[in-house]
Amino acid sequence: MNRCVVLISGRGSNMEALLKAGLSTQIAAVISNVPTAKGLDIAMAHGVATDVVDHKAFPSREAFDRELAERVGCYQPSLVVLAGFMRILGAGFTDAFAGRMINIHPSLLPAFPGTHTHRRALEEGAKVHGCTVHFVTPELDRGPIIAQAAVPVLDDDTESSLAARVLAQEHRILPPVVRWCLEDRLQLDGLRVRTPSSSAPDQCLLSPLPG
Ligand code: GRF
Repeated sequence: MNRCVVLISGRGSNMEALLKAGLSTQIAAVISNVPTAKGLDIAMAHGVATDVVDHKAFPSREAFDRELAERVGCYQPSLVVLAGFMRILGAGFTDAFAGRMINIHPSLLPAFPGTHTHRRALEEGAKVHGCTVHFVTPELDRGPIIAQAAVPVLDDDTESSLAARVLAQEHRILPPVVRWCLEDRLQLDGLRVRTPSSSAPDQCLLSPLPG
């Protein structure tokens, strides 16, 4: 059975969405760079192996990346899932898992790469916002896009109300994508990713705008 390693840094709700979707036996381990990450407790409660590679214990980004790659590699995953992993990974790490590492990002990429995506969407007056699952490449938040979900931005939205609406969609799109990856059902054609045709249209994943 193909298995994945999930990397987290905090709350772990996206990782929990994978567990709730019945993927726990396909998660070889959940690894956090933050020892106190709440998601570690959730994983343990589901009987999933956990590990910590604390970035603060390393003298450089490269040294952290090397150790993390080694620890992830121990599990021989066919897929690495960045699910709320808040460290930028260097080419040393991304190259080691090229084509088999995905990330969930809280914006409709290529809009708003990086952090504070909800605040920036509000500041820019965006009418539509959302989330993206994409393959990870050395360039931050720029790898081939696998799936996206859109939500409306409402006039009275705050950063937290918008974040909550987007997060619900993150939990919706990440599990099927992880499943597709573990089942080798994605086809990469340059920057374009073909998802299984049986997934359309309900997992084509665009939420309708209110009337
Ligand atoms: C999510 O919004 C994810 O897209 C972003 O950080 C948040 C992590 O949430 N990178 P959680 O830890 O999965 O609850």
